[in-house]
Amino acid sequence: MSLELTAPAPEEPSVADDGTWLECIACGAQFAPFEDVRYTCDDCDGLLEVRYASPPTWDDFEGRGVWRYNAALPFEEGVSLPEGATPLHEVPRLEADVGVETLRVKHEGMNPTGSFKDRGMTVGVRVAKELGVGRLACASTGNTSAALAAYGARGGMETLVLLPAGKVAAGKIAQASLHDARILEVDGNFDSCLDIVQDLAARGEAYLLNSLNPFRLEGQKTIGLEILEEFHEDYGTYPDRIVLPVGNAGNTSALYKAFRELVQSGALDVDDVPKLTGVQAEGAAPMVEAIENGWDETRRWDDVETRATAIRIGNPVNAPKALPGIRETDGTAVAVSDEEITEAQRDLAAEGVGVEPASAASVAGLRKLRAEGVVDADERVVCLTTGHLLKDPDAAFEAGDDPEPVPNDTEAVLEHLAE
Ligand SMILES: Cc1ncc(COP(=O)(O)O)c(C=O)c1O
Ligand SMILES: [Zn+2]
Repeated sequence: MSLELTAPAPEEPSVADDGTWLECIACGAQFAPFEDVRYTCDDCDGLLEVRYASPPTWDDFEGRGVWRYNAALPFEEGVSLPEGATPLHEVPRLEADVGVETLRVKHEGMNPTGSFKDRGMTVGVRVAKELGVGRLACASTGNTSAALAAYGARGGMETLVLLPAGKVAAGKIAQASLHDARILEVDGNFDSCLDIVQDLAARGEAYLLNSLNPFRLEGQKTIGLEILEEFHEDYGTYPDRIVLPVGNAGNTSALYKAFRELVQSGALDVDDVPKLTGVQAEGAAPMVEAIENGWDETRRWDDVETRATAIRIGNPVNAPKALPGIRETDGTAVAVSDEEITEAQRDLAAEGVGVEPASAASVAGLRKLRAEGVVDADERVVCLTTGHLLKDPDAAFEAGDDPEPVPNDTEAVLEHLAE
């Protein structure tokens, strides 16, 4: 099986270009990386993965942000704003309250467009240029469209985004709009948008930049590389567990791949690989269902609902990559309610960390797993927060306190404060 944590570094096939090629995770077919546009396997339609003849070691990394890790990426540099180098916050009160030895929060909302998607787009748009494609497209719960619009604009390329009508947070549509994406609102959910955009891509109408595109996940690997490097610098050890929100399971797959490549190069001991722990909203939890039932695939949920619109996804396309990642790292998956998500959003805000609802799912999930005794008190944990508070201002208003109207007069203000 190609997705085992202990699989040896691969042999370079003749189709490789400068030590890089594409490989099907289902049947092992290999393809040249940049000759043709291809998202899945020609032979069996399985998911593709980018493979390298020389997986990276720590000494290979220099510089800052995503492109610090170019030894783990297909290019030296990309279309950049720049992205990555996000904070790994200490959250002492939350750490004590949840009851783990160490808790750090990797705040991906601090990327240029306010989500982790920028890490994938800086690589994806670079590949699009290599392939010489015209229009870039994605389906999105919002953040992918914001990132695609911005990175497409940066690269001087036309962009098209398909969004589920009425289910995308205001900040994200505003971004796609101002960065001049053509925005189509589909009368359906995210999964139907992805079906359509895959059809468009198959007909050559656009280059697909959803996380089905294996190159996007390469950029997202750098979340894991940054966490490991910084955590090790601070504590001389690696985190026991990384907890992350799950939608299409792109990050889960990407972090797993980052760890596998480090194990292949000898840079990381297999016993030091953090347990990948996925969190979904109760109303959109096909990955949790698959983990709990020991399934190799997810069942498509047609009716999904959650206030965390970014992860309102019923058919996670990267499940075949992510399920082995959770299992092989001895991780788990858990579902949380919208109320638990909002509570966690407030907890993070009380530490000065402003996140959108989907992001807070990681903290809500950790709290639940700790209460259930699945996570131990002596664990060192990193929670990933994937998007910024300003992405979803309506949710922030709902979770926070209402402004209080006061008269235009100091005495009246003082009186009001004394009430
Ligand atoms: C804020 C946020 N968190 C989490 C996710 C889910 O990420 P993934 O598809 O990698 O599981 C998304 C994207 O859909 C997102 O926008
Ligand atoms: Zn195949």
